[in-house]
Amino acid sequence: MKKLALALSLLLAFAATTALAAEDGKALYAKCAGCHGADGSKTAMSKSLKGQSSEAIVKAMQGYKAKTFGGSKKATMENLASRMNDAEFKALGDYISKL
Ligand code: HEC
Repeated sequence: MKKLALALSLLLAFAATTALAAEDGKALYAKCAGCHGADGSKTAMSKSLKGQSSEAIVKAMQGYKAKTFGGSKKATMENLASRMNDAEFKALGDYISKL
């Protein structure tokens, strides 16, 4: 019975984290919408973010942070990504992949 209670509380904690991450992604994306569009489909600045997988977004953000990814306009993204962490990239990726 104790084990079941532990398993349940772990499950609840996990569910809470997942829900939080989705909300965080939405809040974080407010910083991105100006350039990438509210639904990620604006292509004046870059390739469309809409339609990309969470993994692709995380990889791109990590690449900008590490300065190993990007095109001719990467300075903006390098600057932004350098002030963010992996948990934020993941939350953003999860949010953007569902736009
Ligand atoms: C000031 C405008 C601006 C803002 C704000 C901005 N971006 Fe960008 N983003 C760009 C530009 C310009 C590029 C293309 C850079 C290059 O040449 O590599 C880009 C590229 C990207 C790419 C790579 C797309 C691809 O597949 O090539 C991703 C992912 C991305 N941005 C995510 C974000 C996220 C997430 C945020 C918010 C945290 C954000 N951007 C905020 C201008 C912006």
